[in-house]
Amino acid sequence: MAHLLAPSILSADHARLGEEIRAVEAGGADWIHIDVMDGHFVPNLTLGPPIIASLRKTTQLFFDVHLMIERPELSIKDYIAAGADGVTVQTEACVHLDRTLHQIREAGAKAGVAINPATPVVSIAHVLGAVDLVLVMSVNPGFGGQRFMPGVLPKLEALRALRERDGRSFLLEMDGGIDPTTIADCAACGTDVFVAGSAIFHQSDYARTIATMREHAQHGAVRPLITLPANGFI
Ligand code: DX5
Ligand code: ZN
Repeated sequence: MAHLLAPSILSADHARLGEEIRAVEAGGADWIHIDVMDGHFVPNLTLGPPIIASLRKTTQLFFDVHLMIERPELSIKDYIAAGADGVTVQTEACVHLDRTLHQIREAGAKAGVAINPATPVVSIAHVLGAVDLVLVMSVNPGFGGQRFMPGVLPKLEALRALRERDGRSFLLEMDGGIDPTTIADCAACGTDVFVAGSAIFHQSDYARTIATMREHAQHGAVRPLITLPANGFI
């Protein structure tokens, strides 16, 4: 599976978001990762559907919208109408996760589910047939520029093994603290989509950073599949 690089505009210059998106697109970005924060689920506030609708006019790239908000089921349609191609909800924010994921697909977008560093894979095991993407958070959500948490890497290996065992095709995405030094480990555990905010937007040459990250991701071999425990706990 080819690696996809998804710059997170959380770390871009918000006075020039359209230009920043065009710059990372010219620099080789595959997706644009858009972090939506509500000041409740996470202690930070970002943007919503009107800004996404404006940004939609600047690129055809896949808009990977990561909702770090409470009650996402109330506004999913608005994000898709604004131009989200994929909508990812946090499992911790969803009482009826299965219903919410179906709601995303029925509204015409790819459905993603995200798990925080403290959330185990088993919490989403029963919805893996309803998702196009699983996002493993490698920092506690809310801010860019935090340190990568290597302790989450075994979750990727478990998800890869589950995907293989059940013949599924969802993508595996990691988000948080990914840079040229951490990306190889993420790739070795089977990550398909790499989100990077500060590592890209805090450098002057976006194309060079994206190319370096892609090289490092391709460098190492993907580890062999792990054997899943018989009791289902992962
Ligand atoms: C964190 C967000 C991330 C953030 C990553 O809550 O979900 O997408 O932008 O930023 P970096 O890459 O700087 O850790
Ligand atoms: Zn994110």
